Amino acid sequence: MASKKLLLLPGDGIGPEAMAEVEKLIAVMNADLGAGFETERGLVGGSAYDAHGQAISEADMAKALAADAVLFGAVGGPKWDPVPYEVRPEAGLLRLRKDLALFANLRPAICYPALAASSSLKPEVVEGLDILIVRELTGGVYFGEPKEIIDLGNGQKRGIDTQVYDTFEIERISGVAFELARTRKNHVTSMEKRNVMKSGVLWNEVVTQTHKAKYADVKLDHMLADAGGMQLVRWPKQFDVIVTDNLFGDMLSDVAAMLTGSLGMLPSASLGAPDAKTGSRKALYEPVHGSAPDIAGKGIANPIAMIASFAMCLRYSFGMVAEADRLETAISAVLDEGLRTRDILSEGKTEVGTTAIGDAVVERFRALSA
Ligand code: NAD
Ligand code: IPM
Ligand code: MN
Repeated sequence: MASKKLLLLPGDGIGPEAMAEVEKLIAVMNADLGAGFETERGLVGGSAYDAHGQAISEADMAKALAADAVLFGAVGGPKWDPVPYEVRPEAGLLRLRKDLALFANLRPAICYPALAASSSLKPEVVEGLDILIVRELTGGVYFGEPKEIIDLGNGQKRGIDTQVYDTFEIERISGVAFELARTRKNHVTSMEKRNVMKSGVLWNEVVTQTHKAKYADVKLDHMLADAGGMQLVRWPKQFDVIVTDNLFGDMLSDVAAMLTGSLGMLPSASLGAPDAKTGSRKALYEPVHGSAPDIAGKGIANPIAMIASFAMCLRYSFGMVAEADRLETAISAVLDEGLRTRDILSEGKTEVGTTAIGDAVVERFRALSA
């Protein structure tokens, strides 16, 4: 790929603090490795609402569509609780996902060896954990119609959200999960609630058919999503790739995040379909965590989820696999050194702030690249 156009959307709360650490890495990669990243910036979420009354402007949407990849911080916060639902900060993120057709959300949960003691679970339950949640991102109850509150006229209102899935949506997300499983431990667990939801019945059926038709070499299990949540905290190492719908994937990935020590550790990649001609795909990379209003502006946010999201960007959007590996090794080395933000602090370790972690990762990355 000739150009490497990155759109940076830092967003709200700790989003800009975490993004600043990635900007250091981009500068170092351009200076030391001639990586040739061209960056543009835009506003999303509450900061965009404050500037122009929308959760993302048309101009910034156009920039996102033209970019090779979007790096996204976080959106939201109590300041914007009173704003109309249609322009709430989260609407900016949902619009990006929908308009860029980013149907496949990859959320890896890896327990770095140095953090086994930071998890709320016993070290032997999480040591060596490496699972990948593949969350469907442009369908389901997030986008299904009708979605509304209606006045029933008798002093009652009715809130309606609609869970909808079509065959092609289930086929393409399960295809992504099976393909990725082949590069890992070759095992997919599909999660739905076929016992109460028609969309769950269809999900189960289509995943089974897709498996039979194209991926019979991959081991496939089915699990009800509530039991899946329980199994994730009971014995998470039984899983390799989990494929699930938009809402279950949202909840199960927050659960998985805590296995790794903190929500501040979990990166994600949201990918579109490869272009038939060029093979390139639209992509957005973001940490799984939100804007963390409780710690925003204090310089104590963990930037690792954001940095690791950039590593996913190097790997999936630019084929910079060696650089992505080095960046992940650098993160691991910094944790091995004992540097910790507060969310992953444990006895005997050194508490440092956001920028100190970012600087240490940059330093390690440069040393590994030399
Ligand atoms: P949150 O992820 O912002 O925070 C949950 C808890 O985890 C908080 O105690 C926070 O301090 C901690 N935490 C999160 N990230 C951390 C980090 N990097 N380092 C250290 N601690 C971290 O979730 P929430 O409080 O439920 O939501 C706050 C706002 O963020 C809401 O407006 C929500 O809609 C939004 N949100 C946005 C995204 C996104 O932009 N992708 C994701 C989730 C939530
Ligand atoms: C996430 C977030 C988003 C979601 C919100 C902010 C729209 O929780 O990315 O996990 O629900 O998908
Ligand atoms: Mn979430």
